[in-house]
Parts: sequence; structure tokens; C-alpha cells
Amino acid sequence: MRGKKIHIFDTSLRDGEQVPGCKLNTKQKLDIAKNLEYLGVDVIEAGFPISSPGDYKSVQYISKTISNTIVCALSRAVKKDIEVAGESIKFAKKPRIHTGIGTSDCHIRYKFNSTPEKIMDLAINAVKYAKKFVEDVEFYAEDAGRTKNEFLAKICEKVIKYGATVINIADTTGSCLPEQYGKKIRFLMENVKGIHKIILSTHCHDDLGLATANSLYGIINGAQQVECTVNGIGERAGNTSLEEIVMIIKQNKKLNLITNVNTKLISYISNLVSKHTGMIIPANKAIVGINAFSHSSGIHQDGVIKKKETYESIDPKEVGVNNSSIILTARSGRAALNYRYQQLGCFLNKDSLDLVYSKFIEYADKKKEINNEELKTILKKSNLNQHNGTIKIV
Ligand code: KIV
Ligand code: ZN
Repeated sequence: MRGKKIHIFDTSLRDGEQVPGCKLNTKQKLDIAKNLEYLGVDVIEAGFPISSPGDYKSVQYISKTISNTIVCALSRAVKKDIEVAGESIKFAKKPRIHTGIGTSDCHIRYKFNSTPEKIMDLAINAVKYAKKFVEDVEFYAEDAGRTKNEFLAKICEKVIKYGATVINIADTTGSCLPEQYGKKIRFLMENVKGIHKIILSTHCHDDLGLATANSLYGIINGAQQVECTVNGIGERAGNTSLEEIVMIIKQNKKLNLITNVNTKLISYISNLVSKHTGMIIPANKAIVGINAFSHSSGIHQDGVIKKKETYESIDPKEVGVNNSSIILTARSGRAALNYRYQQLGCFLNKDSLDLVYSKFIEYADKKKEINNEELKTILKKSNLNQHNGTIKIV
């Protein structure tokens, strides 16, 4: 049983790059795009071509280089934007224009000083115009999270009628709760004529730390595409993390969903994006943080040494991390210390271990973490030979 396919739309190069200070040059963008293709994402949002000549050039290079993945260019619901987006992806084997407009009362009133009727016309005209350049047109309803479902349904129905192939229900301000976002998607699936002909997409921001949960509720309720970024980078608090949503789908077979992502390349792409953008990955970040597969407290270490599954729900190899690690701190116990000495080829009997452990705790109380060099020093200072001489260094 294969499960329903969820399309992974990566926007690291567009929404991700909107993070202050994480400007990428064309070479870096190309490198990331090529690696996203190896990773197996379905869509690469390469940029917002009207925004700058540099971005235009990057989108154009990516379009010429990428062969199997859809290359998407963002535009506002503005003729010139759409023309430039269309031009920038004209060499792509699989081009997509992503155009749209704010649909919430707040956006209509304060951003556009407009009316729902006028916004509806702009949306229709944008899709119609984008269709002149490409077959594959994605429409985004910006701030759909705060848009009334009835109006959102009307707009969706109209843009489908004029040829939208994908509709993005953006929780732009990250304000939805998972159940609420899920219900919104379900409402659209049940009330929009033609919705089954197109792909409904989630695009969730992490202002309340709910981006991944909201995307999950979106796909459980019928969405077939998730927009996300590597390491969750993006405007303000960021977007849904690619690695999180992909691993949630992979780990939970009961969801009966699949993606095309080769998860063994996740650690590699995560480090690559971090290196090029300069955005440091928080140590405790799910899946890709340095601590995601590290165990430091004695109770957990003892469990993991006996059987990994006691404190690990994901096999690190699944995301391209060779092994989990046992970190030695003042919270570690004898089992962890013994394990680390064994990794150094040093086997201690119970009495030796007791002796070394008391020395270790003296050191560990003064330090954050004890490394291999320090372990060797601790061993020397423990005068084991005098004690009982039972270590074997192999
Ligand atoms: O968050 C958002 O609404 C966006 C749109 C431009 C799709 O990024
Ligand atoms: Zn966004």
C-alpha cells in the first residue's frame, strides 16, 4: 500500500530568503536548487523575479539548470510582475507562476483600500494573465488563515474556473490553530466546485510555533501540497520545516501519505542551507539540530545504550546522521561513561569504573561537556593500576 502522494513545495529560496541577513547569491541559490532536486522535492520556488535583477537572474539560471522539478516564480497580482515571472522561467522544463493577493478583510481594507469584489476581479485577472505564459498557475490567497471561509471558497471557485492548477491557502500571520486550519481546508474541499481537479496547498508560518502542526492538519483534511523551507527559515518566525513535515509523514504510516523526498539527504541539505544563508540551526531544532540525536542525562543514556528505541523515535540514519551520540556531562551516569570508554577501546571492570566515575564527576561539575582527550586524562589521574589494573586498551 503506497499511500496518497503529498507534493513538497520548497520555498527556501523565496520565503526562506526573505529573512533579514540571509541574502543568497546566484551561485549559492543554484547549489541549493540542485540539491533540492536530488532531495526529491516536487516544486522549487526559485524567487520573486520582479523584486531585483539579481533575483531575476537566479530564477533564470535555476530554470535552465533544473530538469525534473517544477520551477516556480512568485508574483503579485500585477501585470508587470506576472510578465517578469513568466519571462524568468521561460527556459524551465516545468515552469509554474505563483500569483495571488490578500483576501482577508484586514488586507482588503488596510493594504489595498479596496473591496472584496475588486479583489476577486484582480485575482481572476492575475490567473488569466499568468495562463498566457504557462499552463501551471498557482494562486495564493494571502492571509487566507484570517479570511472568512465563504469568501475564500468563492475566490477559489473563480480562480479554478479561469485555470488555476494549484491554490495556496496561506496562513500568512501564523495565527490559525491546527484544528481551525484543518477545518478551513475541509470546508474548501467540500464546498468549492472543481476543487478535486486542482491541488490544494498549505503555506503556514510559525509565529505561534504551529506551522508544522497546521500543515499536518491541512493534509489530513485534504490538502495535497505542503509549502515549506529547509530548517524552517522564512519571514519572521519562519515557515513549516521541510524536514519536520516529511519525517512526520514517513514516521506515521497510519496517515497513509507519502512524499518523494529521499530523507537520507536531509542532514546534508540542512547544513548546506545553513552554510549558504548563515542562519545557524538551533541546537534543539527537531530532526536537524545538533542535539536532535544526542543524549545527555544518565537515565536516558542508560536506556539508549540498552535499546535505542527507549529514547529515540527516529533512527538517525533515516535523515543521514550516522549515529546518535552520548554526551558526557555532570548529569551522565556510569553506563554512559563506560560506553564512551569502550568506544575509545578501554574496558573497565566495576571497581575501576567506580573509581574513574568519581574523578569524572569532579571534572564534569566544572565543565559543560567532557571530550575524549579529557577522558584519557581522567583515566590517567585515576591511578587505576594501583587500584586493580583491569583496564584493557585495544
Ligand atoms: O505567507 C504568505 O502569504 C506568502 C505568500 C506570498 C504566498 O508567502
Ligand atoms: Zn509566506
